[in-house]
Amino acid sequence: MTTVVGAAQLQAIVSDEDVVRVRQLVRTAAVTAKLSLVDQTKVVTAASELARNTLVYGGGGQAEVSTVDNGARRGVRVVFSDDGPGIADVELALTDGYTSGGGLGLGLSGARRLVEEFELNTEVGTGTTIAITKWAR
Ligand SMILES: Nc1ncnc2c1ncn2[C@@H]1O[C@H](COP(=O)(O)OP(=O)(O)O)[C@@H](O)[C@H]1O
Ligand SMILES: [Mg+2]
Repeated sequence: MTTVVGAAQLQAIVSDEDVVRVRQLVRTAAVTAKLSLVDQTKVVTAASELARNTLVYGGGGQAEVSTVDNGARRGVRVVFSDDGPGIADVELALTDGYTSGGGLGLGLSGARRLVEEFELNTEVGTGTTIAITKWAR
């Protein structure tokens, strides 16, 4: 069973500054979970990419950041959600280099590689939710 340690932090994502705030919340949660400096940076990088996608493609949304505990380890969990257009072809969107917007197309695929758990739920016309977890070693 995974439980949340302390209170989850909710952050709206409607501006560039909000993306920076998400990064800071994730860094703090990663320190609390005692992730190594390298793993802190990995989860902050993944969260940064997903927060930017929430802003740019999702039309804004939110991130919920928490420190979690599964009994053996602590970790950081971040859930991004938006009420945007959704992703019609998830496999394509997760392909290295695919972008619909003139980016590098490495955000989603890169984020998935940087964490242990990556769960994507999306529905065209409804929105997208992506949950990531990175565990302390
Ligand atoms: N929250 C989202 N809502 C809708 N589409 C998204 C969302 N996140 C990602 N996408 C789609 O997935 C594609 C790949 O995302 P990503 O790998 O981050 O590349 P980039 O941001 O460089 O375009 C985006 O170009 C976009 O089409
Ligand atoms: Mg991106």
